[in-house]
Amino acid sequence: MSVITAASAVPPFCLPRSGQRPRVAMMVRSSNALSAASILTKLHNDCATPLPLLRQVADSMAADMRAGLAADGASDLKMILSYVDALPTGEENGLYYALDLGGTNFRVLRVQLGGKEARVVSTEFDQVSIPQELMSATSEELFDFIASKLAKFVEKEGGKFELPHGRTREVGFTFSFALKQTSINSGILIKWTKGFAVSGTEGRDVVACLNEAMGRQGLNMRVSALVNDTVGALAGARYWDDNVMVAVILGTGTNACYVELMDNIPKLHAPKSAGGSTIINTEWGAFSRGLPLTEFDREMDAASINPGQQIFEKTISGMYLGEIVRRVLHRMSEDATLFGDSIPKKLQMPFSLRTPDVCSMQQDTSKDLEAVGSILYDVAGVNSSLESRKIVVEICETIAKRGGRLAGAGIVGILQKMEEDSKGAVFGKRTVVAMDGGLYEHYPQYRGHLQDTVTELLGPEISKNVIVQHSKDGSGIGAALLAATNSIYQH
Ligand code: BGC
Repeated sequence: MSVITAASAVPPFCLPRSGQRPRVAMMVRSSNALSAASILTKLHNDCATPLPLLRQVADSMAADMRAGLAADGASDLKMILSYVDALPTGEENGLYYALDLGGTNFRVLRVQLGGKEARVVSTEFDQVSIPQELMSATSEELFDFIASKLAKFVEKEGGKFELPHGRTREVGFTFSFALKQTSINSGILIKWTKGFAVSGTEGRDVVACLNEAMGRQGLNMRVSALVNDTVGALAGARYWDDNVMVAVILGTGTNACYVELMDNIPKLHAPKSAGGSTIINTEWGAFSRGLPLTEFDREMDAASINPGQQIFEKTISGMYLGEIVRRVLHRMSEDATLFGDSIPKKLQMPFSLRTPDVCSMQQDTSKDLEAVGSILYDVAGVNSSLESRKIVVEICETIAKRGGRLAGAGIVGILQKMEEDSKGAVFGKRTVVAMDGGLYEHYPQYRGHLQDTVTELLGPEISKNVIVQHSKDGSGIGAALLAATNSIYQH
């Protein structure tokens, strides 16, 4: 398998820096000064995730899933029908493309599939970061950007990849936002998330938007499958392992999908597929019940472009962990002189501390916490003492631990629901949860807390059968595989 990248890539779970300006350059310190220790103690308490709380979260997740399957709008969880009723088998053959629009980055892939024996013969991709201004541009501008990158990618082939005569290039489009899917290759955008505020797309079929943009580029390609990134990841992982039943993305945003029996979907009125199962995109980022939230979460939510929405996502995903830590540090420097007498200007800027910074600080094992010191200097413009650096690391750990444990509880909620409604067909055999996303991949402590929680909640026996495993870049290849499965030329 050859992999060629031409990337101006940024770290995969880094945040687009917010365009917002700091409210004031220098804040007046409040007179009722608190100690850093008392703020930290309160933070620990507010973020605590004891097992009974996590059990409650798992139970609520399962209950919300059932409510969302019963009727649209009946639950925080949209439980979206993906129209993916058949997963890749390994027989897929030919040349397919994938477009992946997710969070920070945008990717175009070309995948050469060689059937059961040769499998993935080659993969090549281009990746670019989404320019900040495009995230609040018009729909046309965003889709023109996407189509132009795709056109360049195809142009560079220079006749190297020939399709059989009369065939149009087929593409799987991974679109990682909540869609009301209307068929395997059409879907209406319900709501942008992850800081996107592009005008004119919500309420529209995103495949139509892409087709129009491809038309403007003179590009003749056909979208054969429109999939959420979780669905792509599930398909990509299932290609290699028949026991994959759930896929979870933990990156800039978060979400999960899983294999559901059609008989368990009261809101499904269409005829049942031969296999009797389908993939459900839970959109679990919108989950909100029983979460241990702090004043910092509430303030961040209130200041966000989607207040009151995506609360689970705002508590556990890569876009937000850094910002929560920043808010705590800001409060500590304001109320407890954590960084001396003045309040660092840069620290007042929303999203100036990013989740990769938080992660890097937690990896610092040096005696003086040197790396923590230099990140704090670069990000907040402060010279920190060893004592304040230790506090910072503890805050990072508190927020990462809460995130990882809640994500683990969410996974157990899904598995529990599947087990109960399939009358025991999940825990009694090897069941794989495919994980992807930069947060999961690059943050070892977060990953550890997630795994520990799954094991603790399921108990030693059942957890032997449940494999939570990283399935890197499955969503791109998965979309190409689903383009193959749904190719007009296969039928
Ligand atoms: C979107 C999901 C997506 C997830 C992970 C969320 O913000 O609503 O559709 O799967 O991010 O990328």
